[in-house]
Amino acid sequence: MTGFEDIHGRDESWAVRDRTAHSRTVRTMFARIAGVYDFMNHLLSLNRDRTWRRRVAALTDHDTTQVLDLCAGTGDLALEIMRSGRGRAWIAADFCPEMLVAARGKKGAEKLVLTAADAMVLPLGDGSVDTVTVGFGVRNFADVKRGVEEIARVLRPGGQLLVLDFFRDDPRGKGQAKGVALPLRWLLNTLVPKMGKLVGRDGSAYSYLSHSMGAFMTPSEFAALLDESGFQGAFIDRQTFGIAHIVGARRV
Ligand SMILES: C[S@@+](CC[C@H](N)C(=O)[O-])C[C@H]1O[C@@H](n2cnc3c(N)ncnc32)[C@H](O)[C@@H]1O
Repeated sequence: MTGFEDIHGRDESWAVRDRTAHSRTVRTMFARIAGVYDFMNHLLSLNRDRTWRRRVAALTDHDTTQVLDLCAGTGDLALEIMRSGRGRAWIAADFCPEMLVAARGKKGAEKLVLTAADAMVLPLGDGSVDTVTVGFGVRNFADVKRGVEEIARVLRPGGQLLVLDFFRDDPRGKGQAKGVALPLRWLLNTLVPKMGKLVGRDGSAYSYLSHSMGAFMTPSEFAALLDESGFQGAFIDRQTFGIAHIVGARRV
């Protein structure tokens, strides 16, 4: 695990260089909402976000050692995996200092290596980790294919990738948002930005959520991308009527 810089105990003056205008927009948006991120997550998802992260933890290999949680934000997914007993070393990496700083005070966070890193260029050697998880992060990548290839690079052969996200609806696709999920999606598109403005005082950040979902891939498209980017055996695990999905695969 060399090359990673642990930011425990540091102030917020460190930063990752913005590689693109898109990175800058995303990073500064999360910096603005870092203080309310957890509260808004639990409120807007009616606490389902906790269940979804627990499911990712349950899917994590029991015998994994090195776990990299990318786009770790305030650390909840990395902490969930650590608490589940999976892994021996956990790196929580994100390019937004303000989000990682919010992770620092949490119970168990002292066991995580909190580090500043851009998912597009990870400071890790080839094949150096056993498991990579990404919670609600891939949708924000400036270049999804490049991000997936970078993850493939740092995963050892046979290592697993688990991606939890809000994907674009694919009403024709198997296991996609249908029926109950569509009205819930509608709420996400209309109510969530309003609540974001009212409670989180940042409507634009929460409109971004529905815009980025609409512009993202369907779970099947993402699974196909994994299959052509150095992974095999991609699977889709539908969460809460298809509001969120976990897409996973193994490094060839
Ligand atoms: C919606 S938050 C998710 C946080 C956490 N994983 C969770 O489950 O709540 C997305 C996070 O991805 C980070 N992020 C987006 N693009 C990134 C990139 N290219 N490299 C590193 N972090 C990135 C953002 O800074 C933000 O903290």
